[in-house]
Amino acid sequence: MGSIVLFGPPGAGKGTQAHRIMEQTGLPQVSTGDMLRAAVKEGTPIGLDAKSYMDRGALVPDEVILGLIRERIQQPDAAEGVMFDGFPRTIPQAEALSELTEITHVLAIEVPDERIVDRICGRSSCGACGAVYHDTFNPVPTTGCACGQFVEKRRVDDNAETVQNRLAAYHEQTTPLAKWYESRGLFHRVDGDRDIDEISSDLLKLLE
Ligand code: AP5
Repeated sequence: MGSIVLFGPPGAGKGTQAHRIMEQTGLPQVSTGDMLRAAVKEGTPIGLDAKSYMDRGALVPDEVILGLIRERIQQPDAAEGVMFDGFPRTIPQAEALSELTEITHVLAIEVPDERIVDRICGRSSCGACGAVYHDTFNPVPTTGCACGQFVEKRRVDDNAETVQNRLAAYHEQTTPLAKWYESRGLFHRVDGDRDIDEISSDLLKLLE
């Protein structure tokens, strides 16, 4: 199997679905957002540079992202392919990726803009296992996170103002990728404005 791309606006459910697809297919999730947040937390030069872009909801420059990806896909667990989450986000990123690995599916999770703010502003995740929750739509089970502990994490960019910038960046810089991948016969759309389980089931069917 080659690599797959999860595509969609901020808050579409890419991370939520990546977690489930990873359990079913064994493909490791490669999230550039998670990699950047780890770099910010560690205070590396990449993290220090990226933070100002992320805090205002702008895209981090392509060469920074591509440096992270080149290093990540050389890891042994990436040998059979990976699941990219939040990457590529620009045509130059997609062009560079096509030189690095074969992409077999681009799975687009489509959600209208008006749903996005509520989704993002209620998000939390488990710092121990990475599972994604929502205060209303997908609460942490009363029995706790499936991993046995729940270490609550909230993102600094999950606020109504930054979300508007992230959406604008998505429409201006990322949506042109849909045509780019469509013209290569790789693009599949799934309605993301539904129950989380129904979306997972459709995504897994597309990968069969
Ligand atoms: P990144 O971390 O990639 O954030 P994003 O694309 O904005 O996506 P999110 O993680 O916010 O959303 P998601 O689709 O994963 O949704 P989730 O499953 O959590 O990027 C952050 C920043 O890093 C960017 O702004 C940029 O600065 C930089 N960056 C990263 N990659 C880059 C790149 N390649 N190039 C340049 N810059 C880059 O779900 C959201 C919420 O909704 C959760 O609470 C969840 O429980 C809930 N939910 C999920 N599905 C449903 C459903 N079906 N119904 C109801 N609620 C749902």
